[in-house]
Amino acid sequence: MAQLWGGRFTGETDRLAYEFNASIDFDKRLLCQDVEGSVAHVTMLAKQGILTEDEKESILRGLQNILKDVEEGRLEIDDSCEDIHSFVEARLIERIGDAGKKMHTGRSRNDQVALDMRLYTRQQVCETDALLKKLLEVILKVMEENVETYMPGFTHLQKAQPVTLAHHYGAYFEMFRRDRQRMADIYQRMNLCPLGAGALAGTTYPLDREYAASLMEFAGVTQNSMDSVSDRDYLIEFLSALSTIMMHLSRFSEEIIIWNSNEYQFVEIDDAYSTGSSIMPQKKNPDIAELVRGKTGRVYGALMSLLTTMKGLPLAYNKDMQEDKEVSFDAMDTVRGCLTLFTGMLRTMKFRKERMAESAMKGFTNATDAADYLVGKGVPFRDAHAVIGRLVLYCIERQTSIDKLSMEELKGISDKFEPDIYDAVSLETCVAKRLTTGAPGLEAMNKVIKQYKEYLTES
Ligand code: ARG
Repeated sequence: MAQLWGGRFTGETDRLAYEFNASIDFDKRLLCQDVEGSVAHVTMLAKQGILTEDEKESILRGLQNILKDVEEGRLEIDDSCEDIHSFVEARLIERIGDAGKKMHTGRSRNDQVALDMRLYTRQQVCETDALLKKLLEVILKVMEENVETYMPGFTHLQKAQPVTLAHHYGAYFEMFRRDRQRMADIYQRMNLCPLGAGALAGTTYPLDREYAASLMEFAGVTQNSMDSVSDRDYLIEFLSALSTIMMHLSRFSEEIIIWNSNEYQFVEIDDAYSTGSSIMPQKKNPDIAELVRGKTGRVYGALMSLLTTMKGLPLAYNKDMQEDKEVSFDAMDTVRGCLTLFTGMLRTMKFRKERMAESAMKGFTNATDAADYLVGKGVPFRDAHAVIGRLVLYCIERQTSIDKLSMEELKGISDKFEPDIYDAVSLETCVAKRLTTGAPGLEAMNKVIKQYKEYLTES
């Protein structure tokens, strides 16, 4: 139990208390960030004349060696130190002696951990953004290939009006594009360096905070030392954005599960992303989509957990904040995994286009257009609505669809029907006429696709 703070103590820490307090088990993943932060701190201390050039060189070499030894398996991060910060410092002192004892000059573990966590999260924000971009590229490809693939659009999970697959996927393009915008927004707000805040009240050493910040590519430094060591807003924002990504992924997953069901058969998930049953030989289950939907809960849980940890905490640092790590790391890992697998599943999924069109045709998704047809023949909309209602009932009773009725049958319901009704209620016409911006009509859709392409080449 090597501790950095033994001097003031006469008694030993209780073993269980030590373990309860320790964070090395999970903060060891901050090793790279801890070393990066120390490199910047020490470089700055030397520039300010607080350390000599020799001391700086020796510390930097020591730090790089520690990192390399861990990465190459020669040095194990065990539980002999309570956290990653103590571990790095203890190994450094072991290796380079007295110069190592000067590394922590003008710094506290409070600003150190605030920095490490920010560096780690900043990287995760970028990685999440890159994965979202890959997903958007797959969505856009499907859109380009399916501007004339017809399917029913739903409200209340009831067939409503015909749309295209491109249009349906476009809705998800919008969602994941907003998720990327949230990443950019979070990055910008969080990209300030807390190093130099000390334990809570800054330090008496003449630190150059701006210089240290620039070494780590921060846009600037935080402006209040108490806030610097106790701010976890950026993590909460990130967890909130991750929760929103999961909400989007789980909606998409749910639709794929429905589309993949025996009743719908709109899609076929590739074997690589399905599993079988140990008892029912006929089964091919959409497990990946189900797991993505299922894992949404733990990401929401992380957000709720950290919000609750932070609630009511007095300034400045409190040990409660150590609880930020496990839940956040789990949420970050979960979302990365889900985005990666979901993108692969989407890329390989096949569409059964005839089934989709047939389903749109059978579900009276053209009923609104049939009513609009009568309006075009001078029937007031309310009356047209009632006539088409009767027409739909007539079809249901005979298990047929509007386009299959004879001219005679149609005339029997309203003498306003002419032979051009058949074209008016075809899926092609129903979709083609919807040309308002954001609608599925071909020209409207192509304009949006062009814009999406530009967006993905620019950012
Ligand atoms: N393991 C701690 C954390 O994650 C590091 C900061 C410790 N600071 C302190 N004053 N005990 O928050």
